[in-house]
Amino acid sequence: MKTTIKNGRVIDPAQNIDAVMDVRIVSGRIEQIGKNLESGADEQVIDATGLVVTPGLVDIHVHLRDPGYEYKEDIVSGTRAAAAGGFTSVACMPNTNPCNDNKAITRYIIQKAQLEGFANVFPICSITKGQKGDSLVEMGDLKLAGCVGFSDDGLNVEDGAMLRHAMEYAHGFAMPIIAHSEDESIKNGGVMNEGALSTELGLSGNPWVSEAASVARDIMLAELTGAHLHVCHISSRRTVELVRAAKQRGVHVTCEVTPHHFTLTEQAVRGYDVNAKVGPPLRTAEDVAAMKEGLRDGTIDAIATDHAPHHIDDKNMEFSYAAYGMIGLETALPLALRLVNEGILSLQEVIALLSYKAAKALGIPRGTLAIGAAADVAILNLEHTWEATRQNIKSRSFNTPFENLSMKGKAVMTLRDGKVMHDEV
Ligand code: NCD
Ligand code: ZN
Repeated sequence: MKTTIKNGRVIDPAQNIDAVMDVRIVSGRIEQIGKNLESGADEQVIDATGLVVTPGLVDIHVHLRDPGYEYKEDIVSGTRAAAAGGFTSVACMPNTNPCNDNKAITRYIIQKAQLEGFANVFPICSITKGQKGDSLVEMGDLKLAGCVGFSDDGLNVEDGAMLRHAMEYAHGFAMPIIAHSEDESIKNGGVMNEGALSTELGLSGNPWVSEAASVARDIMLAELTGAHLHVCHISSRRTVELVRAAKQRGVHVTCEVTPHHFTLTEQAVRGYDVNAKVGPPLRTAEDVAAMKEGLRDGTIDAIATDHAPHHIDDKNMEFSYAAYGMIGLETALPLALRLVNEGILSLQEVIALLSYKAAKALGIPRGTLAIGAAADVAILNLEHTWEATRQNIKSRSFNTPFENLSMKGKAVMTLRDGKVMHDEV
């Protein structure tokens, strides 16, 4: 099977490519990139005139809810949403039921994704069995089964000695510890950012310190053990400062930010919008500015969605009781592209943060159109304006605070291994 994507503006930050060219795919791999490539009569030709051709995007933080919570999302619906968002690879968190803390679940996820999925799925397994915080998983086994990192995401590893040992083992296996860093005692059940607004709304507050204090500890443990610490979904100015300083002194730390944390402030919670309830909470304008600065100066390694689908029955209740999380796979690209319009990042930088830089942060071998690489490609229409509605979103859940917000930019075609996974050209 041969395909040529013609006349698109090809942007591949990993190779420093940005030019109008053709991309030729043979047997699921990138065969050639160049101007005016010849294509044989038997070849599929995709006309990308006026469109941008990039590596398939890579999202290193999603919740596919499979096994166990398929009423919220499953591997098929979640990867379909990924493809619709331009993503060809996702790394999925282990807070399923049962938890992905053993190779049987890991194999199930990989196999189902291969057989029925619309994107590559790289499982992340838990750090502790059942994410209960009291005994470590079989790390070597899980690496062999195909996991790309360890995370108790959704929960903090409260016991510092446990996390230290996890880092020592993970380091031995050259695997990252992916930390959901929120000190539970400081968080103290707070359901939104702590400040004047939480007082005004009468909601319990979760201060920035819950995150920053935990990240400070985690960075010190990474420094002690030499392990690679990847900090999930950072939200506060102080956290960016901590990661920046740690990088400067050579600690092996990477981090990610979600589109919602660089787009929205706590003001989105006004009106008690349960779709703006997320962990860590949306914070202040000052924090949002710090996220943008962290993206600009390279402190932040990746944009990751933390796609966290929830059924309306998990959300439709008093704010304090509603589940934490929002979907993100299909709105990430247009929200990230706003950073280009704001003059904070170049288009190449946004694509890099959503592809090879993200993949690199977890050591996933994806995110480039290099010759010989898997033909995972996104074709983007940067001018297309649209709104997220229940009808046009592929995710099984529709918990988003971005409903009816005008979005600009859309993946109009997504190919994985050279095969079309999403097509709205
Ligand atoms: C996530 C979920 O729903 O699993 N929720 C969230 O608010 N982010 C867990 C997580 O990523 O921490
Ligand atoms: Zn998390």
